[in-house]
Formats: sequence, C-alpha cells, structure tokens
Amino acid sequence: MEARPLEIRADADHAIVWENDRLYLLDQRLLPARERYLELQDAAATAAAITDMVVRGAPAIGITAAYGVVLAARSGFAGAGSGWRDAIDADLQRLAASRPTAINLFWALRRMQRLIARLPAEQDPEPALLAEARAIHSEDVAANRTLGELGAALIDGPTGVITHCNAGALATGGYGTALGVVRSGFAAGTIECVYADETRPWLQGSRLTAWELVRSGIPVTLLADGAAASLLRRGGVGWVIVGSDRIAANGDVANKIGTYGLAVAARHHGVKVMVAAPTSTIDLQTRDGAAIPIEQRAADEVLGCAGVRVGAAGAEAWNPVFDVTPAGLVDAIVTERGVVLEPTAEKMAELMAKPPQKP
Ligand code: MRU
Repeated sequence: MEARPLEIRADADHAIVWENDRLYLLDQRLLPARERYLELQDAAATAAAITDMVVRGAPAIGITAAYGVVLAARSGFAGAGSGWRDAIDADLQRLAASRPTAINLFWALRRMQRLIARLPAEQDPEPALLAEARAIHSEDVAANRTLGELGAALIDGPTGVITHCNAGALATGGYGTALGVVRSGFAAGTIECVYADETRPWLQGSRLTAWELVRSGIPVTLLADGAAASLLRRGGVGWVIVGSDRIAANGDVANKIGTYGLAVAARHHGVKVMVAAPTSTIDLQTRDGAAIPIEQRAADEVLGCAGVRVGAAGAEAWNPVFDVTPAGLVDAIVTERGVVLEPTAEKMAELMAKPPQKP
C-alpha cells in the first residue's frame, strides 16, 4: 500500500474512490486524527487493506473487493493476455480470504466472477469489470437511501436512538445503513439525537460514527459499551439501530461484537431493535446464526488501546469481533426491498423472492 495524495477533501461518502483508473481508500484506521487516502495498486494490496481495516464495514468490503478484481484483471491481462482468467485466480482467492464474516464480500466476488465467466478471453476485461464494480458501488448507495427512508418511517419520534459500531457512509458505498436510517429520521424530525457505543476494541463508534455524525450536524453522544444498558433503563431511547455483516436465512443477525448484549438489554427494557442492511447482506445459504463464521482477531487488539498496551503482562485475551443476535430479539430487518417485522425463515425467503430494486 502506498500513500498518494488524492485531491479531494476526505468525506465519509467517498471512503472508496475510483479515479483516473486508480483505487483509493480513505484510511479508516487513522480517523478522526488524520484524513489520508491510500492508493491500492493491485489486488494483493487491496486484500491486505481489507484484512488490516483500512476499509471496513460489510458493504464497503464488498465494493472494495469488486474494485480489487478490476486491478487483478488489469495485471492478469497485461501479463497473460488471453490467459488472464487463470492468471487472476490467486488474486480472487486472496480477496476472498481477506475477512470471513461479512457475506457482502463473497456476494460481490460472486457477482464479479459471474461476469468473468461470460467475458471473451481475447478482449481486455477491465472496462466491463470496472462497469460492474461501479454498478455494485452505486447500487449500494441507492439501496441505503431507500432503506434509510423505510427504516425512518418506523420511528415514532422525536426520540433518541442508540447505535453500535459504524454502519455509516464509511462502512458502505455512501449514506450508510443504520446511519442511513438516522440521516433520514433526523431529516424527518423523528430522530433528535444519537447515542453511539464507543465499540471496543477498534473504537468504530467513537472514531468513525461520531466523526460522520458531527460532520453531518447530527447530535451524537458517545458512551462506553458497558453504559448502554443503563442508558436504556434511563429512557429517552426509542430504538436500537444497527447494521449487519450477515443475516442468516432464519433472520439471525451477525454484527459487531456487543450487538447481542445490546439487543438483550433492549428487549429487557422494552426498546425495539432495528437491523438496517441491504439484501446483499442476507445469506439464505446459511441456515442460522450458528453457521455464520465469526472472525477472531489478534489478542493484541484487546490487550491494547489505540496501539498502547494496557492489559496486564501475562493476561490473555479473547477477541471474537462479531456476535450473533437471534432473530427473536430483532423487531425489524430493514432492506431496500422492504421491511421484515419479527423475522422468521418464511418472511426472509419471501423478502428475497421480491424483485431487486431498479437501478
Ligand atoms: O469490523 P468492522 O468494522 O468491519 O465491523 C463492521 C460492523 O460490524 C458493521 O456494523 C457492519 O459491517 C454493517 S456496516 C453497514
């Protein structure tokens, strides 16, 4: 990866930029302290950027991987000519191995692979693959705008809401899923403020969600993850609104570690839970939450904070970075194809049988 200047002001809606035939990512590891774009020169660097959290959030990972396929095809065609399809195999595998939980990654790669299978061997594959990656990117933004409106329509406000991790513009092609609902609800006057869990250990809440919301003029109050239950008991929070990395066929939801505990506390206090996600996050091939692969990351992430070791020497750490909230704790799954209240396998299948949103 290489830091190259990109002459645009850093902004959450442009965390992934394809410009002048180059792929740039806003380095989310540095926010909010530094706003720096990295240029990704090949698919291996793109896969590493996903693994290393330069870019994160399920839809954003999928979009980035799609652009990574374009870079793979560029070097495959330059090096192997009509043999480009075989030449990019290792790159496709690298991209697929970059993170295990978000289904959007595999969804986007499958979509690119379906196109790869149809392209003629002799022709430069880059223009067609770039058009597909751009379509994946812009369709995600459109989906977020639609689901944002649908989610906001469920909120009987004005009220406060609580969110966990970052499911905003930074985590998507733009606008955001959970934060898409927040943006639409704030504009409609039904959401008056957002409580954001700081989200240990990567602090996506305090670093990223707060950065986005402050820039958008939406009042945001940070809290330690452990304070969420007390906030729910105190009142003033009408909904918990989160994104998802993978929704299983029965409506179980994988999302950032801590979401499950938040949902348990919300149910206990009579606060509703909304999961906002595009249909590219729904995986009907995975029967239930127990079958979702949960990424485990390095112990150091928990033993330290912002790069500084804080855990006692000799202590070990357990670091699953996602958890599963059972469908029974979810009041609404909001997608661009519609809303599923009290999700079940039948309702999820019905939703996915609806025609996709027109571009
Ligand atoms: O580890 P991360 O930062 O990639 O985790 C992100 C989340 O858990 C988000 O809530 C999820 O991907 C939805 S993003 C619209």
